[in-house]
Amino acid sequence: VRTQVGIVGAGPAGLLLSHLLYRAGIESVVIEARSRDHVEQRQRAGVLEQGTVETLIAAGVGERLQREGMVHEGIDFRFDGTAHRIDVKWLSGGRVVTVYAQTEIVRDLIAARVGDGGVILFASEVICIDDIDGDTPVIRFRHDGSEHTLACEYVAGCDGFRGVCRDAIPEGVLTTYRRDYPFAWLGILAEAPPGSHEVIYAYHDNGFALQSMRSPRVSRLYLQCPLDDDAVDWSDDRIWSELHARLAADGFALREGPITQKAITGMRSFVVEPMQYGRMFLAGDAAHIVPPTGAKGLNAAVGDVRVLAAGFEEFYRRGKSDLLARYSDIALRRIWKVERFAASLCTMLHRFDGDDAFTRRMQLADLAMITSDPLAGMIYANNYAGLPFEV
Ligand code: FAD
Ligand code: DHB
Repeated sequence: VRTQVGIVGAGPAGLLLSHLLYRAGIESVVIEARSRDHVEQRQRAGVLEQGTVETLIAAGVGERLQREGMVHEGIDFRFDGTAHRIDVKWLSGGRVVTVYAQTEIVRDLIAARVGDGGVILFASEVICIDDIDGDTPVIRFRHDGSEHTLACEYVAGCDGFRGVCRDAIPEGVLTTYRRDYPFAWLGILAEAPPGSHEVIYAYHDNGFALQSMRSPRVSRLYLQCPLDDDAVDWSDDRIWSELHARLAADGFALREGPITQKAITGMRSFVVEPMQYGRMFLAGDAAHIVPPTGAKGLNAAVGDVRVLAAGFEEFYRRGKSDLLARYSDIALRRIWKVERFAASLCTMLHRFDGDDAFTRRMQLADLAMITSDPLAGMIYANNYAGLPFEV
């Protein structure tokens, strides 16, 4: 079996790439370790930058997103028991974000690929990639207990942080930059209407808390917790009591309801350079991770895929490999700005073990700056609504 671009991973990066390649007349096969059900139900990101929304609409997969997505023109920062709204639309010159869950984007993209006759091999775990620096790399994968191969002209490693593509690159090629944070997030899904129609980021002595949403009836909530906590130690009562304490502000009423999911996620900043070796390109979480403050992970993956798809299109349509050769440089220029934003928000909003009174005052001063000084607010709003794409 052969294809032009072999794509490892059916997350947002791999699926969007496959869809954009199809629209450009380029053949691809997506190989995904998990089942279709699993990838469609994996609860993850929720906030889409304006450019991500425009990319999905332009690619013909924005119909449900436009109908069901919830447009947010601002964000609410809470500290000192008070709500401070940032008017993202005004401060960014008219741009907004849209709350539409990653699960829905993944569903829309899978439906589009399947509808167009695209090949996505689910429950097929890639074991290794041979000959990345030769002319015909080969993806080796396991399906139903037996081993198969896919020969490709190029490989796109869209297999997330724990995938195999990055590790297939010979030692010494990649430089890794990383910071691990000494806390985690407990992510909660609750059948309760959100108490506010905008996302809330709360700074509190007990730790950070966040209220977002998945629909007018379903809240998505997060609580900072110790890294070694287990979700089973968080009873529903304990969760609601912490959320009430951390999200409190005058006139705000948190709505409770049945909790349907709880999971703990560690946090890190991580980048590898370059994002390419031989005939393999890394995109999305396979190449970089941000801490979730700022909701940038999925949006960063879309930024990479735009450049990579345009590079393949230029190569297959016009025989020019210039853009593919510059893929890593172009993608990394944007990624480092996104990393800066996510890491600085993460540092500003969380409680670090042993932080002193001075550090807490600095965090509060940063929060006061971005919520009261329009110049600082503009920088925040531009990053939150999404930095421009080069390609
Ligand atoms: P992924 O979505 O990770 O997709 C990679 C795919 O590759 C997966 O389907 C995986 O099963 C598959 N794969 C892995 N190994 C193999 C293999 N060997 N063979 C075949 N397939 C393989 N971002 C936010 O902005 N806000 C959030 O709240 C948020 N929460 C998150 C919670 C969790 C638990 C995680 C892990 C991430 C979260 N993120 C969040 C980040 C965001 O979801 C990611 O940035 C986004 O999913 C990146 O898309 P991707 O396609 O690059 O990678
Ligand atoms: C969501 C996740 C985030 O990390 C964030 O900063 C805002 C919202 C969400 O899941 O909706």
